[in-house]
Amino acid sequence: MIVERLSTGVRGLDELIEGGIPRGFFVVVTGEPGCGKTVLCIHFINQGILENDKNIYITTEESRDSIINQAAQFNMDFNKAIAEKKLIIIDALMGGEDPWTLKSLDLEALVNKVIEAKKYLGYGRARVVIDSISAYWLDKPAMARRYSYFIKKVLSKWDFTVMATAQYAITTGEAHGFGVEHVGDIIIRFKRVIRGGKLCRFLIIEKARQTNHSLYAHEISITAGQGLVIGKKLEVRREDYILPRYIYDKIISIKKKEAKEFNHSNL
Ligand SMILES: Nc1ncnc2c1ncn2[C@@H]1O[C@H](COP(=O)(O)OP(=O)(O)OP(=O)(O)O)[C@@H](O)[C@H]1O
Ligand SMILES: [Mg+2]
Repeated sequence: MIVERLSTGVRGLDELIEGGIPRGFFVVVTGEPGCGKTVLCIHFINQGILENDKNIYITTEESRDSIINQAAQFNMDFNKAIAEKKLIIIDALMGGEDPWTLKSLDLEALVNKVIEAKKYLGYGRARVVIDSISAYWLDKPAMARRYSYFIKKVLSKWDFTVMATAQYAITTGEAHGFGVEHVGDIIIRFKRVIRGGKLCRFLIIEKARQTNHSLYAHEISITAGQGLVIGKKLEVRREDYILPRYIYDKIISIKKKEAKEFNHSNL
């Protein structure tokens, strides 16, 4: 059976997952703040606009205008797409008065709103971004699995391919709420390191069901005009694993001392 795959709209990313995201999949995008999760979601939606899909973006972290402005920096006209009934941005943060806002982080209200938006946009292949999904269980992380399963089950019936972001707890390096990664069909993980005093970001496909995906971490860049672009495979550099000289000297001196003591006790 040939799987229909949706392009992510990110240069270099589709190749890592055999051409794109299988239609109807639930993709989890995860990683620390400022790594590119929202930027990836914007590309995914813009690609949907280009392909005449029905597109819905739920924003819980930033206002609707902030998403529109970020897209505009990458030459993507979200205002035009909204006017042409190709896109609805549901604002779950600002709580305004128009029909596409949500007043609280209630999961059932969210799903109902998404279905209402889909009915408004019309029949056909659809994409939905939930940015972020972990906002829905921040105060009840034990519900993560059940909530994400519920969303996946309901939305797949409405011909949605879902991209949901999940944040990482900086303190523990764990995803907020246990379980979304098991429900997700694909996990795209962003990571960051400081190398030579510079912030370096990269991305790895941690999981992709029914897909012979790349197993490598890839460097990424985000720039005005282009947005997110996947770069080359991450090389293991000498400075990534070599120990600083003073730690190395300390280990050698401890080893020497231990050897000396061992020799003495065996005399
Ligand atoms: N015009 C631009 N030029 C260069 N870099 C940009 C531009 N716009 C955004 N960025 C980069 O993208 C980053 C924001 O990425 P994004 O909003 O996708 O983060 P995120 O992973 O969604 O974070 P969070 O979890 O906080 O929502 C900025 O910190 C900046 O480094
Ligand atoms: Mg974000």
